[in-house]
Amino acid sequence: MEGRGASSGLEQVRAHPSSPLERDIERILITEREIQGALRRIGEEITRDYAGRDLLLVGVLKGAFVLMADLCRYIRLPLDVDFMAVASYGASTKTSGVVRILKDLDHDIEGRDVLLVEDIVDSGLTLNYLLKNLRGRRPASLEVCAFLKKTGIQRVEIDVRYCGFEIPPEFVVGYGLDYGEKYRNLRYIATLRPDAYREPR
Ligand code: IMP
Repeated sequence: MEGRGASSGLEQVRAHPSSPLERDIERILITEREIQGALRRIGEEITRDYAGRDLLLVGVLKGAFVLMADLCRYIRLPLDVDFMAVASYGASTKTSGVVRILKDLDHDIEGRDVLLVEDIVDSGLTLNYLLKNLRGRRPASLEVCAFLKKTGIQRVEIDVRYCGFEIPPEFVVGYGLDYGEKYRNLRYIATLRPDAYREPR
């Protein structure tokens, strides 16, 4: 697991304030290069840990779609992928604590080695609910890969087996993470300028 301080890249990567996509960006927390480095490391760990097993990656939509696409290609093993969709914050930045499954898995997971892939752990309530739900379907094993984990604000303890970065408890966008469904296609993870929350563009 890698701790996060200020942007640690050698190159100072800046957002492009003139681009319509990037004009609301305040600060880049994790660069594209740092993201790919962490994924390579996690991919190697998973490749080692799951050799000879029946790996099923379960991505939590929508946020994990970018992460899933990259992560599965750093894992050098045969594997299956499936997705669940859960209700998230909508256009707000605070969790409601209510988790709703909008799309369930396509396949039975009984006896499978399931790795749940989540973009970010904030309160932990979403993962807590999903883990309980999936455990009831009797997989052979069930672990969590959470790319980001906000420090010190989990309302329930989640055992994260594979983690990319711990970040401060700030709202972030990019690399699959949205605010009001926007910014998922940024290649880095960043905070938004305060005025971006008042006036959706
Ligand atoms: P939790 O249930 O509070 O842990 O929240 C988990 C879900 O909330 C994530 O899968 C995201 O969809 C969303 N979320 C939490 N924090 C952020 C953030 O900083 N930016 C964007 N979405 C977030």
